[in-house]
Amino acid sequence: MMFKLQPAQITHMNNIMWLFREARKWHMEMNVSQWPLFELDRVLEDIDQGRLLVLMKDQHVVGGVTLTETDPLIWTDNTPAFYIHRLVVARYLKGQDIGSVIVDLVEQRAITSGKSVLRLDCWANNDRLKRYYERIGFRKIRDLAMGEAPSLPAHYRNSTTTLFERQCDEARTPRQSVSYAGTWGYASPFF
Ligand SMILES: CC(C)(COP(=O)(O)OP(=O)(O)OC[C@H]1O[C@@H](n2cnc3c(N)ncnc32)[C@H](O)[C@@H]1OP(=O)(O)O)[C@@H](O)C(=O)NCCC(=O)NCCS
Repeated sequence: MMFKLQPAQITHMNNIMWLFREARKWHMEMNVSQWPLFELDRVLEDIDQGRLLVLMKDQHVVGGVTLTETDPLIWTDNTPAFYIHRLVVARYLKGQDIGSVIVDLVEQRAITSGKSVLRLDCWANNDRLKRYYERIGFRKIRDLAMGEAPSLPAHYRNSTTTLFERQCDEARTPRQSVSYAGTWGYASPFF
């Protein structure tokens, strides 16, 4: 399979919102209370700032990820890192670890941007998702109880989140279950 990870354009907006809605519906079916309905304005801002990347397969948007270079509400040290948010893959592609394709492509870019680690966090009580992150090379750093500061997104308030990190590794080979060739797209304002 051939994938390309590239900064989202405004023309991808409907597709990416559809993926977020599909994931949220699936969360509800699993009784996992996780994602809110992401606000259009926030997603538009992510596109505008070059933070939202889309995974393209044959001209179709099949996944996405939102990347930042800091995440000060959760991580307070200054290790050079990319912070992974809102990782999503179309449900029809489930079971092939295509999320790890996104993570691997982000890792390649992280290395050329001088980052040493990839970081993310997820709900501490979601064991299945945590097992997945461990399977694709992340290790648990610690649990963090979130307070109720108004600066926190509503869905984080009073929750406990688990922090994960993966060391960037130039020699990493793609996971065996996923045979792919991946490329980065054009330059974005963010990078
Ligand atoms: C996370 C994600 C990108 C991984 O994509 P992928 O590499 O193609 O892998 P899959 O979709 O096959 O999922 C891998 C495993 O993680 C589990 N998983 C994924 N998201 C999950 C979630 N939100 N809650 C619980 N389990 C989840 C899957 O059920 C599967 O478990 P299994 O191996 O026990 O069957 C994709 O599952 C997804 O889009 N999930 C919904 C959005 C989401 O929850 N993102 C993470 C936000 S922190």
